[in-house]
This record gives sequence, structure tokens and C-alpha cells, in this order.
Amino acid sequence: MSSEFVSDRDWAEFKAKLKQKTEIDLDLYKAAQMQRRISNLVKRNDFPSFTAYFDHVCKDKDTFAEFIEYLTINVSEFFRNSDRFDQLERDIIPNLMTRSSKLNIWSAGCSIGAEPYSLSMIMKDKTPATRHRILASDLDIEILNKARAGIYTDAEIKAMTLDRRNRYMTQLPDGRYSVNQEIRSCIEFKRHNLLKDPFESNFDLILCRNVVIYFTEEAKDQLYANFFKALKPGGILFVGATEAILNFRKLGYTSYKPFFYQKPL
Ligand SMILES: C[S@@+](CC[C@H](N)C(=O)[O-])C[C@H]1O[C@@H](n2cnc3c(N)ncnc32)[C@H](O)[C@@H]1O
Repeated sequence: MSSEFVSDRDWAEFKAKLKQKTEIDLDLYKAAQMQRRISNLVKRNDFPSFTAYFDHVCKDKDTFAEFIEYLTINVSEFFRNSDRFDQLERDIIPNLMTRSSKLNIWSAGCSIGAEPYSLSMIMKDKTPATRHRILASDLDIEILNKARAGIYTDAEIKAMTLDRRNRYMTQLPDGRYSVNQEIRSCIEFKRHNLLKDPFESNFDLILCRNVVIYFTEEAKDQLYANFFKALKPGGILFVGATEAILNFRKLGYTSYKPFFYQKPL
């Protein structure tokens, strides 16, 4: 059925072209929300259809990168929802470390890298001599380049304590901050589509926060089931502040604390 934003035919053609070029399958995202977002862009740029707009963005590498960035919504910052990070530091990580001295952590949908670098700082403070592993993945190649570069503005690090900023970041001549090598060294950045690619396993902790907002309910259930398999027994899944998993029991998890779900031991 055609929506107010796009005809069936245009939407089908746009989805097929996007999938062929990027492997992003819009059938796994909420159609109305995605159509509204893309429609804003198509109208603003004065194109007659989604497909015409897509053909246009494909002609230029930078325009294409901007479009994918818009589509995947990669806003992030260090220690986002800092009270949850406090809980991670005070309760969740010490609990996990009673079972493994070296943690295997996955920041899924890591965007600009603020989340895995925040984790790395916490781990460095807790166990300076231990090299934990943090896998940081995202669908968007351009955003992963920014993550690897590890350079941030004041606004992106505003929730970081001054003490951590002084110890783990270096201010550049242009005023921005660069993450120090000791914090980068345990992070492995990788392109990975959560709705398509195979998952690694044996994780103590998986963070997937502010990623599933436009996924369909079916896609979310499948994702959380795949995370369950990827966790070690006793491992924890940490989700975003608006993303409580209502059917966590059906998926096999127990609720450890709000927004933290555990695979039973
Ligand atoms: C809003 S950011 C979240 C960043 C970080 N987790 C946080 O909470 O600050 C959402 C990220 O999810 C990524 N993303 C969206 N769909 C994805 C998918 N199917 N597979 C992997 N990453 C995806 C986007 O590229 C974007 O960088």
C-alpha cells in the first residue's frame, strides 16, 4: 500500500538498489519511520522520487557517505547515559570479573567509537595490567573511519571526567582531543551488519544501545536471540535507555538490573 511519502513501486525499487549497493535491507526496519526520514531528504533536495535521489547520491562518494550517515543515524558521545556507565563500572564489570579475569566485550553499533573507548577507559582504570578485548562494530564504513581516527570535540566528551580526559586524551593544536594509544590498543574495529552477518561468540558483555530504534519487532527479537547465543553463560547484554526488552524471559534472559539482561549460568 502506497504511503503519503512514497509510491509502492518507488519504495520497492529504492530498497532493491540500496540493498544491492550497501547490503542494508530496509525490510528489517520500520517502513513508516524510514520513509519519513528519507522523504525529508528527497523533498529538501527537490528530487521527484526516492530512486532519483538515490541515483544522484550514488554519483558522488562524499554525498553517498553523508546519505548513509543520515540513514543509519550515528549520534553518540562518551559515557552516554553516565549513570548506566557508573552501574557498569561499579556492579556489572566486577561481577563479570569474578568469572573471567580477561573480558571479551562487544560494542555492537559503535558509531563514532565513543562507546568502546569509554569502555576501554573503565577497563584500564580497573585492571591497568590486563589486556581485555573490545570488539567494536558498525554497519557504516565511514563512521568506522572516524572511530578509528579517535579524535573528538568538546561536546562529544562532555560527560567524561576531567581526570580521565587528562589521563587518556591528548589535546590537539585545533582544540579537539585524541584518544591515547593505551586506550586504543585493546579495541578491534570491524564492519558488521547486525541484521545479516554471522556473530562471533564467547562474549562476557555485549552493548547494543540506541541501534535498534528503527528495527522491526521481528528483527529485534532475532537480534536479541543471536546475542543470547553469542554470550557466555552469565554474560550480560546492555541495551539503550529507551530499549527495555519486554519479552526477555521468552528469549531466555533474566533481568539483572534495568537495561542489563543476563544469560543464565
Ligand atoms: C545512534 S548510534 C549508537 C551509538 C552508540 N551505541 C551509542 O549508544 O551512543 C547507532 C549506530 O547503529 C548503527 N547501525 C544501524 N543499523 C545497523 C545494523 N544493521 N548493523 C550494525 N550497525 C547498525 C548505525 O550505523 C549507527 O552508527
